[in-house]
Amino acid sequence: MDCTSISTFLLVLITITTCHQAHAQEAPQAAPGPSTSTSASATGPTMTKPELLAKACDNTPLTKDLCRSFLASFPESEVKDIHALAKFAIKMTSLNASKTHDQIETMEHNPATDDVTKQRLNDCAENYQDAIDQLEDSMPALDSKVYDDVITFITAAVQDVESCEDGFKEPPAVKSPMTETNEVFTQLCNICLSITNMCGK
Ligand SMILES: *[C@@H]1O[C@H](CO)[C@@H](O)[C@H](O)[C@H]1NC(C)=O
Repeated sequence: MDCTSISTFLLVLITITTCHQAHAQEAPQAAPGPSTSTSASATGPTMTKPELLAKACDNTPLTKDLCRSFLASFPESEVKDIHALAKFAIKMTSLNASKTHDQIETMEHNPATDDVTKQRLNDCAENYQDAIDQLEDSMPALDSKVYDDVITFITAAVQDVESCEDGFKEPPAVKSPMTETNEVFTQLCNICLSITNMCGK
């Protein structure tokens, strides 16, 4: 296990632990009255968007700011439950991976890029395409509340970008132009995992 794998593993572990705690602390819902309210849900009818994002992002303490800014465009109208937020986070992460995929292809076809780097970037484009597929596959699993599958798919996406990064270390090693992008993508996946865990427990 290299450092990235270990830190990923630890984050998931922390997430699972804090998730259990978060759940244990959840207050019981007020008894539903004969009201006409349509907003009652898992997180309660009174939770605002900032409260929902705070609750979700507190579980990824190392990347709290990234989490909040990444999820800032979550539509106000969907502030119903953590499940909707999990789906939004995965969609946004998939979209981010597709944009990254396009950037990789642009770099790959840049005449200034050397041949070895081109080859590695070509592999990275495939890795990111696979990561996109994994994230897309995780969404029906999320809808079906099969959270273990969701976690398996997202973890596979993380492994895809690890493969991208590792590719540059293979002989002849070249400097990876992807390091920062891969790290941020991994953090986004960890945020998705964290929110998924809050759904399931
Ligand atoms: C992916 O998301 C991160 C975090 O918001 C952002 O910094 C990065 O620019 C995004 N990547 C692309 C290619 O849009």
